[in-house]
Amino acid sequence: DQSDSGDVYLQEYKGYHFLRGKSSSEYIQSLEDFEIRDSDVFLMTYPKSGTVWTQQIMTLIFEDDCTEDYQQNYERMPWIEFPLDGYDFVNRPSPRLYATHLPYHMVPKALKEKKAKVIYVFRNPKDTMVSYFHFSKMMNDLETMPSITELIERYLNGKVLGGSWFDHVKGWYDHKDQVNILFLSYEEISKDLRSAVLKISKFVGKQLEDATIDNIVERSTFKNMMNDPKVNFEFLFDHDADKKKGHFMRKGTVGDWKHTLTVAQNEYFDEVFQAKMKGVPLKMIWDL
Ligand code: A3P
Repeated sequence: DQSDSGDVYLQEYKGYHFLRGKSSSEYIQSLEDFEIRDSDVFLMTYPKSGTVWTQQIMTLIFEDDCTEDYQQNYERMPWIEFPLDGYDFVNRPSPRLYATHLPYHMVPKALKEKKAKVIYVFRNPKDTMVSYFHFSKMMNDLETMPSITELIERYLNGKVLGGSWFDHVKGWYDHKDQVNILFLSYEEISKDLRSAVLKISKFVGKQLEDATIDNIVERSTFKNMMNDPKVNFEFLFDHDADKKKGHFMRKGTVGDWKHTLTVAQNEYFDEVFQAKMKGVPLKMIWDL
């Protein structure tokens, strides 16, 4: 089943596009029966929405519960759809933290019975598109997008890693009452990191001292994350990415689309956005 995205590195399964070399449809399908513990905490995102950032915040919130010595955040909080060779991400002490880009209709069924907790982080899709544009340049196993003009149509039609932004966000939002979920936007986190940390810790039932919160905030700033080898995703350069072409911690701002999209591209994007998000009351922040 060849991907219909035009990107040879992507595989399509039920409308979702994932990296062909990192997973398989059969494996992803099997995740529907993934056994959930009540104490599990999942981070759900569409790609480029601030996953690694929230992953940092969450691993720090649960730092005291962690009895194992993890080298990287992605081991402490692994992606369920991209199993790491030789790493048992199931049999871990509770509370287990997980990340995933899976859409609502493909996640473990037990989450839909309000087992475990889910944090859904979304980001305005112009910024996710621009972030993806740069990401596609540095990743060896993603087709490099030569320009936004090349990307925009594909992006708006969901023919990119993660599938459609619209389907992803709407899928989760429409089913929010079936899941034990907290919605949070990248922009809210940018605007007030401390409040976001408090919101997340309250949601997961962690009562933290002021000094601990301060420490989490400090260690989750863009600058500190960029310089922290445990969290800055520079390991990608071992195999998956090209150092000469960019960094995972790229810019970390709200509204970078304004420097990238032409007036016409922006108007076109708005038109599609209005049509696809009609009736969805989720507040989108395009600029701070
Ligand atoms: P940019 O490319 O716009 O800089 P994901 O982890 O979902 O792939 O998202 C990646 C985006 O989150 C990148 O956006 C990255 O720079 C940004 N990001 C990561 N850590 C951040 C932080 N501490 N503060 C702000 N943005 C951050």
